[in-house]
Amino acid sequence: MSPNIQEISKTKDSFSLKELNVMLKKKNKSIPTKFLYDDLGSKLFEKISNTKEYYLTRTEEDILNKYSTKIINESDAHELLELGSGSSKKTKLLILEALKVKKNLSYVSFDISEKALKMSYNQLKNISSDLNIKLIKGDFINDLEKLEQINKPRLYLFLGSTLGNFNNDTAIKFLSKISKKMKKADFFLLGIDKIKNKEIIKAAYNDTAGITEKFNKNILNVINKEYNLNFNPEKFDHIAEFNEDKSQIEMYLQALSHQKINSKQENIEINLGEKILTEISRKFSDTSIQSIFKDSGLEIVKNFSDVKKYYSLYLLKSI
Ligand code: SAH
Ligand code: TRP
Repeated sequence: MSPNIQEISKTKDSFSLKELNVMLKKKNKSIPTKFLYDDLGSKLFEKISNTKEYYLTRTEEDILNKYSTKIINESDAHELLELGSGSSKKTKLLILEALKVKKNLSYVSFDISEKALKMSYNQLKNISSDLNIKLIKGDFINDLEKLEQINKPRLYLFLGSTLGNFNNDTAIKFLSKISKKMKKADFFLLGIDKIKNKEIIKAAYNDTAGITEKFNKNILNVINKEYNLNFNPEKFDHIAEFNEDKSQIEMYLQALSHQKINSKQENIEINLGEKILTEISRKFSDTSIQSIFKDSGLEIVKNFSDVKKYYSLYLLKSI
């Protein structure tokens, strides 16, 4: 049986071909990150999580294994609301813990990808009759306001270092929106990837099995379908490099030849060697993330980390 998915935005209409053309005609070309996550993209992301180089998922999972009880006891939540939930595999650890102390627990999975919502549902549907699962398809940048308020304590979740995929302004705007939504009894658990040896970071985005490369190139198939374009993914190289000044991974598609792309509006030209930015992934220090929290009206209740200090799960409250 297919699960019930509530759609709160018309995500397809929210970004026009015109806007995409503008981004692809600039000197510094880019494609919005959300186009990485169609059905195939969501499956590929799950595969990336299991590669030996991608330490993030594993590390976050270890932290959750160790501290779920503490997090659940502290937050006393009746509802767990997760943004960009993906498959909810790690979240299951928190849910199982919460079910030990709460009857009628609700879990809300919010994601732009229908495939992710279905994976999440399949992950959780059989764990307990005490768990009420709600699936919402929406865009966490544009649709947060539409999330309904509840009267019981809620634990917001934003895992997988997805905050690192936002630039500073977007990160602060996003966190401020959540902070404003949060009531006194609410908590927010946020997963953040930390600065470490850059070779370790780079390897995570250049796995030898080539899954991240497929994931990156798939963004072209997605926009081809969505906007009737004719990008050929084979004519691009996958590049993921670490920008030390900005402390971020930058993922690009680099043209292997001069290319003309046809669209219903203007045509797009891409020169040999030109790079299209598809994603950034920022790596934070304790200080850099604390300054973002301060600017977003959030305060740290606890910081849970692994022994190597590769990753942090911050339990936050609204100020
Ligand atoms: N939290 C999961 C998945 C992280 S990958 C984990 O830790 O493994 C990022 C997730 O955010 C994907 O499931 C993707 O579909 C979703 N996503 C990306 N852009 C989004 C947007 N604009 N609005 C809502 N969800 C989005
Ligand atoms: N939030 C994840 C990260 O920054 C998203 C991600 C994982 C990702 N692997 C990727 C984004 C590869 C682009 C390319 O790590």
